[in-house]
Amino acid sequence: MTTSIQLAGGISGPENLRPLLATALDALGKGTVDRGGPLPTGGADAVGALFAEDVLPWEGDGAETALDGLAKAFAEGAADPAHPSCVAHLHTPPLAIAVAADLVAGVLNSSLDSWDQAPSGTHVESQVIHALAGLVGYDPEVASGAVTSGGTESNLTGLLLAREHALSQAAGAHGVESGIPPELHGRLRILCSEATHFSVARSAGVLGLGEEAVVQVPLGSDNRMDPQALRSTLADLRSRGDIPVAVVATAGTTDLGVIDPLPEIAEIAAEHSTWLHVDAAYGGGALFSERLAPLLTGVDRADSVALDLHKLGWQPVAAGILLARRAAAFDPIERRVAYLNTADDEAAGFQSLLGRSLRTTRRPDAFKIAVTFRALGRRGMGELVDRCHEQARNAAATVREHPRLELYQEPVLTTVIFRYRPESGDPDAINAEVRRTLLRGGRAVVGRTELDGSVWLKLTLLNPNTTEPEINDLLAELVTAAVDEETR
Ligand SMILES: Cc1ncc(COP(=O)(O)O)c(C=O)c1O
Repeated sequence: MTTSIQLAGGISGPENLRPLLATALDALGKGTVDRGGPLPTGGADAVGALFAEDVLPWEGDGAETALDGLAKAFAEGAADPAHPSCVAHLHTPPLAIAVAADLVAGVLNSSLDSWDQAPSGTHVESQVIHALAGLVGYDPEVASGAVTSGGTESNLTGLLLAREHALSQAAGAHGVESGIPPELHGRLRILCSEATHFSVARSAGVLGLGEEAVVQVPLGSDNRMDPQALRSTLADLRSRGDIPVAVVATAGTTDLGVIDPLPEIAEIAAEHSTWLHVDAAYGGGALFSERLAPLLTGVDRADSVALDLHKLGWQPVAAGILLARRAAAFDPIERRVAYLNTADDEAAGFQSLLGRSLRTTRRPDAFKIAVTFRALGRRGMGELVDRCHEQARNAAATVREHPRLELYQEPVLTTVIFRYRPESGDPDAINAEVRRTLLRGGRAVVGRTELDGSVWLKLTLLNPNTTEPEINDLLAELVTAAVDEETR
């Protein structure tokens, strides 16, 4: 007789899972205690040593042993964004409620490419998209969108919709079906600022425009896209016979968190009948906060918007969102596939979300978002955003008052850019080495970037529980390490 394989779903699924979940949670706890800080000490070699055993042995160890050993090693070797000193990236500590909800999604393994694989998933994603469309100020009855793997996919898909729109205007063609017509090669342009996320240039390459299609509009003195420069760049492009496919504005740049002047940019894009895509992967979270939402005034004028709830939304990866002001914008990527979504099934009410994404199989990542929204409400989400914003303001104040630290500029959202100011030695080399020292010692994960040709350090504050003393301790530890480095 063959033994029954333990599945996660079905009637016996919950009982199959229960002991494994207890094992996983115990191992997570042990691994986290053994790590004892935000990341493992000793760098990559120490992490490798945690996983010394063959990952694909001929005979398996069995579920309990494998899960216990590997979950403990995984936790011990991880950089944990829930630790107050793990502040390098837009790498959020997920909420317990979101992770619990994600388990439900994983068990049912719904896939959003056809209604018959995800009846509830299809409904829940539509509800989440409806709510988020309303949050950005779109008419939710006219708008549409999808949950994506993150800001990168949202930017790529938003720019794909923009390209299709531009091609249909210029040549009545759809690039998805027939490629870019030869007469338009080398003439399609995407305008953005130099602080735009690199995924925009990569998208231009993927979309057949070439990365050189990206035209950088200069920043103003406030590090936001300069609207006058955008106006003159668009006029220049037009006079050369180039075709602007999209203007990309950023609401929350990766380093400084600054928000481009959306109303002015929207006005100029409209004057040129050019698609406006707003990358609000970081700053979109501010829409939950009554205090910060006004920073995004004008976002409702965008043709497409990228949001990302695995940043200021406290979701486990992945929880990107792409919204389009008009559902019809997705028409070029809609498909009828005989085995997934025939027209007669759709007409009978079994409507699929296949045409909302370039992916086929797609997780119901909307479920954890829906549960989180219902648990916290918009007010609760806004409170988390406000807490992190407050931390950034306090950290900036500490940096500003510190004789050996220099603040780059006041925080807009939740990042603080600063550096140690040595009395002697190369500031760039010292700041870069301090970050590595903290990493090697498992003491802190501090961000690093380059601005105006110099190395700066970055705190990306996304943990609503972090306290002011914890941030002050981190800064004090960093200064001690920097002094050591300077006097070595
Ligand atoms: C402004 C901005 N856009 C897009 C992205 C890419 O998002 P993801 O990493 O979710 O693909 C990031 C990532 O940090 C970002 O900061």
